[in-house]
Amino acid sequence: MPAREKANDWPPLRFAKAGLRRVFDLAERGAERLFSPALNPLAQIGAISFFLFWIVAVSGIYLFIFFDTGIVDAYSSVEWISGPHWYHAGVMRSFHRYASDLMVVTIALHMLREFSLDRYRGTRWFSWFTGIPLVWFLYISGITGYWLVWDMLAQYVAVVSAKLLDVFPVFGEPLARNFLTPEHLSSRFFSLLVFLHIAVPLILLLGMWIHIQRISRPKVNPPRLLAALILAALLAVSLWKPATSQAAADLSRVPVEVGLDWLYLPLYPLAGSIGAWSLWGLLVGISIMLAAMPWLPPFRRAPAAVVDLPNCNGCNRCVEDCPYEAIRLVPRTDSEPFPHEAEVNADLCVSCGICMGACPSSTPFRRVDDLKTGIDLPGQPLREVRDDVIAAAARLKGPQRVLVLGCEHGAAGGDVGGVVSFPCVAMVPPSLIDFILSKGLADGVAVAGCSESACYNRLGVEWTKARFAGTRDPYLRKRVPRERLATIWASPFDTTRYEAEKAAFAARLAALDASAPAEAGSDDIHDREEAEA
Ligand code: HEM
Ligand code: SF4
Ligand code: SF4
Repeated sequence: MPAREKANDWPPLRFAKAGLRRVFDLAERGAERLFSPALNPLAQIGAISFFLFWIVAVSGIYLFIFFDTGIVDAYSSVEWISGPHWYHAGVMRSFHRYASDLMVVTIALHMLREFSLDRYRGTRWFSWFTGIPLVWFLYISGITGYWLVWDMLAQYVAVVSAKLLDVFPVFGEPLARNFLTPEHLSSRFFSLLVFLHIAVPLILLLGMWIHIQRISRPKVNPPRLLAALILAALLAVSLWKPATSQAAADLSRVPVEVGLDWLYLPLYPLAGSIGAWSLWGLLVGISIMLAAMPWLPPFRRAPAAVVDLPNCNGCNRCVEDCPYEAIRLVPRTDSEPFPHEAEVNADLCVSCGICMGACPSSTPFRRVDDLKTGIDLPGQPLREVRDDVIAAAARLKGPQRVLVLGCEHGAAGGDVGGVVSFPCVAMVPPSLIDFILSKGLADGVAVAGCSESACYNRLGVEWTKARFAGTRDPYLRKRVPRERLATIWASPFDTTRYEAEKAAFAARLAALDASAPAEAGSDDIHDREEAEA
């Protein structure tokens, strides 16, 4: 992240964030090399969590066919699953357990990654805030699952959970009494557990759906190849180390040595040492602290995008490109001959400027002084962008004048010479590149965004690539000499590569100029364009 963004963060939080970002950055670069940017698992960790949920759900439904929900036969039915029927039901049991375990890991990584990317503040609060209950629902699902097997571990979970729950007077008589002797154990209570183990994951699914409501085109499915790799890895682990039960529960004995699942039950030993109230206090305290994080200082909020009706024809491009569902088309409120106009919901807008880059009116070629577009960022309007580009280009020196249009969240954010910064590279309308090259303002334009799999504004890198490739409106016109345009995708820590790619681009430009003098655009074409405007 650029230094100016981190300036006001509370120091411990700033260090934690920067340290984590560096670790993730290293891991992501490694994963990009190993899997390719499109398959980088860290970049789609939310989608992988969704996929794991479905694996847990499908394997759970399969197991339910063979599971005996009565307290007496629950254990033996699970033994039957893992014993004689290991090759289908047993494998499904292992899938169920290992996918649940992996989900704890992926969610922890997802949460840490969003924190390190600083994507939880301001208008982005919603996904962060709604993520916290998901952790609770996930843990309740896992804990009730361990309970159902009714082995020694289940007995331990039952006894400790009952002690924890008994501090609340909602259950009438103490739950712990159920686990004193076999006679006390009621089948009705066990049925309640089965019900909870089905109902809570359904609530989790509803929560997951709510969690992504403010995100446009959320990635909820990993690419097929990655999904296949995850399935293959789960199968390999299931065959190598099948999930098994411990000895059958025995209420006449106190479970002493139980092998814990440290992913789901790490706090259970604490219940004995610090007591139930303290443990609840700790859990609720941490949850409240995490949930409150989006509202901690610094309170920075750039102004939301603003629609300028005389320049909006209701084409829908900004709606399509906005990564946060902040724009919609509404019936026209002025006398322009179009059925719709764009409307921005300021509460959802993160001021990324991608909509400005998408708008067909965002063309710097127009000769008006008060250059306006259909949708603008008040903090960095198109007029100012054009002026900044012209001024920065005028300062370029040397034989190969490379102007960088850089994202402030990527490697170019720390660059000081020959850079015009944007909150996202997709804020750059392709016509701006045409403008720079056809006017001969620079010999080459380098568009420098975040690293390919960690776009701060989610879709900026994807849209920029598609616009340049001519597969998404507004596309870069064919007449723009592609050899004078470079894209550099590099994180703030990857400055060495950024500088190297910039230098390589300058060298390519030098070779180009040596072989044939540049024909930067043709005057008659852009004269025609200006005349049109
Ligand atoms: C079952 C658990 C979870 C699942 C399945 C899940 C899944 C997802 C998915 C699919 C996205 C959209 C990613 C994209 O397309 O860009 C997302 C976004 C997000 N998630 Fe989660 N998530 C979970 C838990 C959490 C938790 C516990 C937190 C943090 C407390 C969290 C924080 C966020 C944030 C902040 C975003 C939005 C990032 C942005 O503004 O671009 N999530 N999540
Ligand atoms: S600046 Fe535009 S694209 Fe970005 S969130 Fe706001 S309305 Fe959406
Ligand atoms: S892209 Fe521009 S013209 Fe099209 S709907 Fe949005 S603001 Fe209006």
